[in-house]
Amino acid sequence: MGGSNDHIWWKHGVIYQIYPRSFYDTNGDGVGDIPGITAKLDYLSWLGVDAVWLSPVNTSPMLDFGYDIADYRGIDPIFGSNEDFDVLIREAHVRGIKIVMDLVINHTSHLHPWFIESRSSRGNPKRDWYIWRDGRKGGPPNNWRAVFGGRSWEWDGATEQYYHHSFLKEQPDLNWRNPELREAVFGEVRYWLDRGVDGFRLDAVVWFVKDERFRDNPPGWGPNAPRPYDLQNHVYDQNRPEVHGVLREFRTVLDEYDGRMAVGETYTESPGDPVQSARYLGDGTDELHLAFDFSLIFSKYGAARFRECLSNWYAAVPDEGWSCLVMGNHDQPRMASRWCRGRDGMMKAKALAALLLAARGTPFLYYGDEIGMMNGRIGRRQMRDPLGLKYWPFHPGRDRERTPMQWSDGPHAGFSPAEPWLPVTDNYREVNVEAQIKDPDSLLNFYRALISLRKERPALRSGSLKLHGSDPEVLSFSREEGGERIFVAINFSGAAYYLPLPESVEGRIVFSTEPSPLISSAGKCLDLPPYGAAIFS
Ligand code: NOJ
Repeated sequence: MGGSNDHIWWKHGVIYQIYPRSFYDTNGDGVGDIPGITAKLDYLSWLGVDAVWLSPVNTSPMLDFGYDIADYRGIDPIFGSNEDFDVLIREAHVRGIKIVMDLVINHTSHLHPWFIESRSSRGNPKRDWYIWRDGRKGGPPNNWRAVFGGRSWEWDGATEQYYHHSFLKEQPDLNWRNPELREAVFGEVRYWLDRGVDGFRLDAVVWFVKDERFRDNPPGWGPNAPRPYDLQNHVYDQNRPEVHGVLREFRTVLDEYDGRMAVGETYTESPGDPVQSARYLGDGTDELHLAFDFSLIFSKYGAARFRECLSNWYAAVPDEGWSCLVMGNHDQPRMASRWCRGRDGMMKAKALAALLLAARGTPFLYYGDEIGMMNGRIGRRQMRDPLGLKYWPFHPGRDRERTPMQWSDGPHAGFSPAEPWLPVTDNYREVNVEAQIKDPDSLLNFYRALISLRKERPALRSGSLKLHGSDPEVLSFSREEGGERIFVAINFSGAAYYLPLPESVEGRIVFSTEPSPLISSAGKCLDLPPYGAAIFS
């Protein structure tokens, strides 16, 4: 973005999440790689993206596809080399694009040397870097369960104790209560900051610290019940108050550098809990810069629902803090599949894009959502995700939202010359970047135009937001910044809508879906086509 506001790029910019395995493959092994991301920087810059968040690229046995790190300083050979990563940072920065790494520090891989040492003996100096406990009455220390199935405690026969893992047993949890461990992790963080990384997406923040007394979780009934994990109320293994102390220390490390950012996966189960997520922003200046609220992702399509999500989220974010908006990621079904099925799919997707890019808060785009990529159809035998493998058919797994990027209608959607690691989604002949670049009415060009409008209009980037009315079909709001006022109306229904314009709206339409909404001759009513959106200045 350049200029004096460069250090708050994370407030004003658009951040694009890449799942590196599936973005672009340059070495023909069917798996995307870092040179593939570098090769596509011009595309990202054309789209207007200000920062890229990469799902993990560090050395890993890939049991959870990189969310199990065995060496924080290494780049996994499947993605390329350390030099490739330096080239990516350099080339991204040349184009004014920031690089955000995924930082998985709730747990490591079981192959991380820290864990190998820790499990080697009870007396090992790194024993306490992980969470080791004696059993209770011949069984595990308490009733906690792992998100990915089974107990969260794994017996280690050699040292006759259990270790804790919130996810797979090959993802042992780090002990954030141990000051040496904290310093060691901060050392890894500084290493990447020194190498020029602009920020981190912190994985699994809510799990960072566990109850000091390891009390049993009381029974509960979560959204995915009767999955055993959801039969507990996770009061003792999630969202412990001590997480805030960790984040404050983390922030101090980041603040040693200029313009760096941390966004947290402050996950809460469906229907989302914005108040809980926003707590991790601290007072707005001392913990995370940004926190993900999942309520929009879990919401049903519709103006009333979206209005409620936005209003709850904005109310939860502290005055000095900043919000971000997210509609999809690598763990959730594709937004186009959740909300935009059927004949009007692309129109519905444009209405969503208008919301994501015109409302207040840093927008996060998930790769492929800008062309309306849908969930892939992944058969049981093609499944790779450990979550799906464990819970299928009850949980279909997360592979379907991780299919290869659809670049063209060529072989393997232009993603790779070889058979990709996950099958390409069948609609790639119609839905792909090459076709949408050429089509002025495409979803991709709609995203691009809106991103460009955001850059031109401070009110859209950083202005205040006031929600209007309580209309069940149309979401409208105004944004204001230093004398500039913008009014946005989005019709989330399949019928045309006649919207009386608030008195204060006098300007002209500066952006809209096609066919253009009409303003009545008296200038006081707006005729919005189905799924139409209009932005007034
Ligand atoms: C959240 C990540 O987004 C997900 O992909 C991963 O499996 C878990 N955390 C464990 O790291």
